[in-house]
Amino acid sequence: MKPSVVFLRNMGAAMLLATGLQAAPATITVSANQPAHKVAPTLWGLFFEDINLSADGGLYAELVRNRSFEDADEPQHWQPVTSGDAQAAVTVTCEQPWADNPLATRNKRSLRLDITKASPSATAGISNSGYWGIPVRAGQEMHLSLALRLPAGTNIPLTASLESKDGKSYATAHLNAGRDGWSTIMAKLNPDTTDTDARLVLRASAPGTLWLDMVSLFPAQTWKNRPNGLRADLAEMLNSLKPSFLRFPGGCWVEGETMAESYRWKETMGPLQERRSQWNIWGYWATHGIGYHEYLQLSEDLKAEPLFCVNVGMSHKEHVPMDRMGEYVQDALDAIEYANGPVTSPWGALRARNGHPEPFHLKYVEIGNENGGPAYLERWPLFHKAIKAKYPDLQLIANEWAGGHPTDPLPDIIDEHYYNTPEFFMNRADMYDHYDRSGPKIFVGEYAVTRETGTGSLRGAIGEAAYMTGLERNSDIVVMAAYAPLLAHVNHRRWNPDLINFDNSRAYGLPSYYVQQLFAAHRGDVVLPTKVDAAPTAAPVRGGAIGVGTWLSQAEFKDLQVTAGGRIIYQSDFSSGTGNWRFHGDGDWQVVDGALRQTAIKENIRAVFGDAKWQPGYTYSLKARKLGGAEGFLILFNILHDDDKNWWNLGGWGNQRHGLEIDGSESATVAGKIVNNRWYDIRIETAAGRIKCYLDNKLVHDVAPPSLRSLFASATRDETTGDIILKVVNGAFTPVMTDVRIDGAPVAEGPAALAVTLTSPGAMDENSLDHPTKISPKPVSITVNNGVIHHEFPANSLTVIRLTAK
Ligand code: AHR
Repeated sequence: MKPSVVFLRNMGAAMLLATGLQAAPATITVSANQPAHKVAPTLWGLFFEDINLSADGGLYAELVRNRSFEDADEPQHWQPVTSGDAQAAVTVTCEQPWADNPLATRNKRSLRLDITKASPSATAGISNSGYWGIPVRAGQEMHLSLALRLPAGTNIPLTASLESKDGKSYATAHLNAGRDGWSTIMAKLNPDTTDTDARLVLRASAPGTLWLDMVSLFPAQTWKNRPNGLRADLAEMLNSLKPSFLRFPGGCWVEGETMAESYRWKETMGPLQERRSQWNIWGYWATHGIGYHEYLQLSEDLKAEPLFCVNVGMSHKEHVPMDRMGEYVQDALDAIEYANGPVTSPWGALRARNGHPEPFHLKYVEIGNENGGPAYLERWPLFHKAIKAKYPDLQLIANEWAGGHPTDPLPDIIDEHYYNTPEFFMNRADMYDHYDRSGPKIFVGEYAVTRETGTGSLRGAIGEAAYMTGLERNSDIVVMAAYAPLLAHVNHRRWNPDLINFDNSRAYGLPSYYVQQLFAAHRGDVVLPTKVDAAPTAAPVRGGAIGVGTWLSQAEFKDLQVTAGGRIIYQSDFSSGTGNWRFHGDGDWQVVDGALRQTAIKENIRAVFGDAKWQPGYTYSLKARKLGGAEGFLILFNILHDDDKNWWNLGGWGNQRHGLEIDGSESATVAGKIVNNRWYDIRIETAAGRIKCYLDNKLVHDVAPPSLRSLFASATRDETTGDIILKVVNGAFTPVMTDVRIDGAPVAEGPAALAVTLTSPGAMDENSLDHPTKISPKPVSITVNNGVIHHEFPANSLTVIRLTAK
């Protein structure tokens, strides 16, 4: 989550501002006779992270939650079930009475059922409701398997059934108890009813003690019918994005909060009971049912290049000491050998034993996720040297993070991440147009509109679409890009928004899903230069919280006041402490003589107060006094997220200048300095989106409300069909009448070969489980007349047009 900021608050105001801005039709000119570079064949791909229950409870078709009882010392997600006067105690046990025969070394816990009283008419057992209900469908077979242990010489009749919540049975199987020791029991269950909120119930009908482990239930039909496979509807949604690569398995999940929680691929391999149950940074236990092998298999099944992201010896909180890094580098080498090595190599042989003698052709390995700073720069060369020595053709991807990326040695590709508002992305649609082509290629490994987009609105999708026209146009340098995150269970959303949302039986894509699908389905092979000439449109005006900060200086602040429409919204009073102020960075804040004082000489120290919902148009005033250090103060305003870089920087740049920084970039600066031990009067007015900054009542900056580009376009040619593919994004809140001209290559007159538009009446409209395709591409009538398309592109829309070459 890097760059910050941007506008968007009051759509109504924005629409008023936008009205009347369009005069003459906009024009889009495609130079079809001057083909530029090839569209990178890897451009549009997927980033899969085990986040939001996207693997367990999601793509992984396992229906039982906590199947191995490793989640906790209590039987989490399991409930005791008794009928009549049956009696039983249910415990999770770590005891291994058969130490010479544990189920698996990584699977220490099992469930112990001590049945003191039971009979065929009064049974005792346990039930599991999976992930908010087990979905069963009439006539669709399900496969149950479990490990059962009975003490020698005992036999307890057991049944497994699929039932409604109130006990109505849909299917039952009698399980044959095993021999002494652990035995695996399998059964097929054929439900006669459809119920998306069913449960699996295991019942014993005689007294005794038994142990259970690895209780698993899969639909017989998984995607591509693979055993231990994937939920078909979700996998098909991934497939229909036609991804050219699959980055896995994360994300922060690769790093972990601590090294103990970080992702180690070797713990995700082999028989399921041997795989580590692992606490996931996103708030649940992961089974690694989708392990390294399954990710490679999924990539192959999607016809996508696998892109494996390895831990670089850094978690969120810890670093592996340099003298222990050898193990991590070796892990990376072994992962590559597992994917690509001959069956005669140790890891290649394991791949063959796991059912895939053919190599997986892994070409891309990313070293770390969102790692940066000195620790990363120290570790990167270890991986680079070892991997390139053995696999010189492998493409190594480095993280762009903490303000840079490694340069020694230079990566093949660098991975940049962007999460922000729709307008942030629109403003960056041309960010790669003048990018240095001599360095590493770019992988925009994670991007999404995450702010001012609800839980995934049309407006967010349009922001991304505008940005993607820039990625496509620059796909000589931007060789890969992926939306993030990909999947979320609606009952365990730890990140918002997510491309595909699902419950246990339904799924829907955000409008952003259809943007991804349209770009991927109509990617074309060669970029055609495209010129857009359209009047700008008003950017939505933002409001937000306020704050104060310092950069390598000490300062204090008092008499802070926020007013709007003659009303005081906030008046500082530090007499009883700092209350709801939020502090960021390595600061040393205290209240001294009624002022908020910061004395640590560090960069980027901030204190924020208020709410992203504060409406635009307020006036923010305060007094500030510098106490020491190299620079002056930061006066934060219109803060939607606390890490937004939206501030007036007084005495910045080594105390040489005052500058207004909006959306992370300088929007106005003047020469100026801040002296020590003098109280300054500071005031920022934000009426109607115009920013006026006063120092000691003197106007220093006066910046007009921001405007935005309205139209964005990119064009490619499909070399197989000869079709010219045009993508047009209207980011304005009003329709834009446009003339599209195709220069230099005649196209067939009449209706376009294909034309679809993604739009909706409301910018903030969303899809949902109940209305999954409310916002999805719809055919639109577009005609070529004398080589020109005269068309009104709707407000907040993406239109894809395929024109047949004559
Ligand atoms: O995509 C969600 C998270 O965002 C990823 O885990 C991380 O890489 C980024 O911060």
